[in-house]
Amino acid sequence: MQNNIIYTTMSRTPIIAANWKMNIGPAEARAFLAAFKEEKLCECKGVEKVVVPPFVTIPAVVETLNGCSCLGVGAQDVSDHDNGAFTGEVSTAMLTELGCRYVVLGHSERRQYHGETNAYINKKIHKALSAGLIPIYCIGETLEQREGGQLEQVLRTQVTDGLAGLTPEQVAGLVIAYEPVWAIGTGKTASAADAQSAHAFIRSVVAEIFGEDAASKVRIQYGGSVKPANAAELMSQPDIDGALVGGAALKADSFAAIIRAAAV
Ligand code: PGA
Repeated sequence: MQNNIIYTTMSRTPIIAANWKMNIGPAEARAFLAAFKEEKLCECKGVEKVVVPPFVTIPAVVETLNGCSCLGVGAQDVSDHDNGAFTGEVSTAMLTELGCRYVVLGHSERRQYHGETNAYINKKIHKALSAGLIPIYCIGETLEQREGGQLEQVLRTQVTDGLAGLTPEQVAGLVIAYEPVWAIGTGKTASAADAQSAHAFIRSVVAEIFGEDAASKVRIQYGGSVKPANAAELMSQPDIDGALVGGAALKADSFAAIIRAAAV
């Protein structure tokens, strides 16, 4: 990880997103949002806050927010097709009709359990962008790949193939989530230095392919066992622009604590 340019974080607003995965149905979401409101974070400037519920929970979240723009809403996946005979799939138009602004794509659990490839995720990224959704594109290496010295190659391929065919402006406007697979749901977080080094590398690859302007604007979140206790140190790294949070975002108070850590 040498020769990585560290770009200033000045122009990038950190984004903290709660990836609820297959947790929190509509009733629980209403309770979560009531508790979140008590945290009085709506006025917390300088950090973008997003919840990413399961599809069936999205309407309850949007309804409960009742027009409040404090929290953005995202989905955990989307189809690469517009409509038709694709049982079980959800389209970009359905998500925008519900009020979604973001969509998480290429999460390692989708790669691992549903065989999603960089090329397939790339199609979804194009589809999402054409519908005006902001993709949160997840990348990251397995422990085996890291220990086998393949970290940079894996990240380079995920960036190159996953973002293929996008314009520099499109790349500048999306979010990349660096989530080392070995850190997801395991309680093992990458050290702040290791995470920073991976983020700087990812940004340098974006610069090579899409130019320095896109690289300096694209936000790169860290994900993998982020919690209130480690958030501040991770967020203070120059190339870390927020977090994609799983387990620690299932409770309003710990999600709020992570948001506060990003706001300082
Ligand atoms: P975790 O999940 O915070 O529970 O490790 C993060 C993610 O998978 O996005």
